Amino acid sequence: MQVRKGCITLRISQQTLNEIKFRNSIEDVVSGYVQLKRSASNLVGLCPFHSEKTPSFTVFPADGSFYCFGCGAGGDVIAFVRRAESLDYPSAVEFLARRAGISIVTDESDKEMYARRSSVLKMNLEAARFFNSCLFDPKYGKEAMEYLCVKRGLSTSLIKHFGLGFAPDNYGMLTRHMSSLGYKDYELSSAFLCGISKKNGAPYDYFRNRIIFPIIDPSGQVVAFGGRVMDDSLPKYLNTSDTPAFRKSRTLFALNYAKDSCAEQMILCEGYMDVIALHGAGFSNAVATLGTAITKEHARLMKRYTKSVVICYDSDDAGQKAADKAFGVLGEVGLEARILKVTSAKDPDEYIKKFGRDGFSRLLKNTESEFQFRLGKILSKYDIANTDQRLKALDEAIGVIAGVQSAAAREIYSRIVSEKFSVSAENIAKDAEKRFAMSERQKNAIEKERLLLSATGISDRVNADYVKNPRAASSEEKIIGILLLHPEYIEQMEKKGIAFSSDDFFTSFSKKIVALMLSFEGRPFDISSLGTELSVEETDRLTKLKMDREKLTDNSLQLLTEIYGKMVEDVRRSEMTADEIIKKKREKRKSDRHR
Ligand code: CTP
Ligand code: MN
Repeated sequence: MQVRKGCITLRISQQTLNEIKFRNSIEDVVSGYVQLKRSASNLVGLCPFHSEKTPSFTVFPADGSFYCFGCGAGGDVIAFVRRAESLDYPSAVEFLARRAGISIVTDESDKEMYARRSSVLKMNLEAARFFNSCLFDPKYGKEAMEYLCVKRGLSTSLIKHFGLGFAPDNYGMLTRHMSSLGYKDYELSSAFLCGISKKNGAPYDYFRNRIIFPIIDPSGQVVAFGGRVMDDSLPKYLNTSDTPAFRKSRTLFALNYAKDSCAEQMILCEGYMDVIALHGAGFSNAVATLGTAITKEHARLMKRYTKSVVICYDSDDAGQKAADKAFGVLGEVGLEARILKVTSAKDPDEYIKKFGRDGFSRLLKNTESEFQFRLGKILSKYDIANTDQRLKALDEAIGVIAGVQSAAAREIYSRIVSEKFSVSAENIAKDAEKRFAMSERQKNAIEKERLLLSATGISDRVNADYVKNPRAASSEEKIIGILLLHPEYIEQMEKKGIAFSSDDFFTSFSKKIVALMLSFEGRPFDISSLGTELSVEETDRLTKLKMDREKLTDNSLQLLTEIYGKMVEDVRRSEMTADEIIKKKREKRKSDRHR
């Protein structure tokens, strides 16, 4: 066994991992996301990872795993959380640990990772305190306080509630303060609290002469900062870049407060100031993305806390374009979404200032559905009195109807469009149904092509080398499947004088998996314990390989030995180039089609 060391960089102690998995039963965790129905000894539901109408997503409580027969996603409860929450492995474990109220005990290497994360969080907390005390110290914060209270109309209690701060107009104040607390320059720069001068290697404060908005995650940790200038200079905002403790694309400003009052409805804004104004007026269910367009990760995060989102973007063109995108992303994760139109003000912040809490409440009662929003945009773009434009508008409106999944909704919308355009609802519905069917066919064709490609191995992203030597690769995957069922075989083979080595394997996927298995040096492993080093797609694949073997009756040591021998031969014999193989595959596919 040659390859053993150096492949595991992170391993949470097995005991902790077991405890975490034990206290987070797969059916329990999954039912937070998917409505599960019992089917024999398993549970089934609609897969949260691809869109489907009949359930192929299956949970196997007996061994704590899941598998989707439609899209191939699979694994244990940790793999599920990684996908559902778009988390990396350690964060998914942390997530589940927190869910069960367990504190994480880790191996040495693992500790390092957590140490980096928590050191950034500690520095951020200190920095937030520093910025905050500067704001409240007239010596530094007089102008900033005036800006916030007078120009932006914030109350002191609201400023305190959000922990706002001020970074003085100075290149070294924060760095000096943090050094006095024992933090090193390189640590501060890893948290984006200071930069390091390229000229002389000296540190300099990253935020200067800016109002500071601490960004606090739902567990109450300061994960990042936004800093705003007080005049028209640029850039208007400066934000912390991604750190070990912060991913911009999955963080929402004010979720730490909103999480407690957003179960029914969440308000999604563009800016920090919008959110602060809304909270100030009593709408504590408001959040904002951090200057980036909404991502699917944001949407998934929201879905954890709410059923329905009210998009409340700026009234300018950019805001309305962003709303268009937001509808798409929110719909994709299955969140209900409506839009609130801010009129007579450029953004929610200005609106609240002009019309107060009651004014905004009225807007909240008059939100529009995605369909109304899209139809409204079409109607304002075209002049319906003009026949040509009317046809174009009608065509677009039918396109919007055709994009709706529910047949009943399509019928209702056809009637609404019929009234607006004075065209019979029957004809509109007919056209819409045609287009709906066409796009469904296209979607199916794309899916079929994808399946075909993956079946022939041409676009196998997880095991990219598969196609270069399918015979060997297929044996390898059988071996991996058997070993997942019987980890003890590795030692038993060794006793028989057959030393497994990842070098014997052909594909880099197999090499990686086998090396990982061997690194456990006789200790038992399973998909979860291997999972620390795997991508979610790789975990899916392992689950599938294990399931494929489970269905078969012979998974004996004897069989394993045979397959191993054959595989080693296949690997040695293989001299065909990948291009030749792809060409051959393509030809075969063509001739199959013509048959
Ligand atoms: N933003 C950013 N960087 C910029 C501009 C904007 O990160 N250079 C982000 C900030 O999170 C900001 C949001 O985009 O809150 C919306 O931008 P904008 O509407 O310009 O800012 P407001 O928050 O409305 O700020 P203000 O009302 O103070 O102008
Ligand atoms: Mn604004």
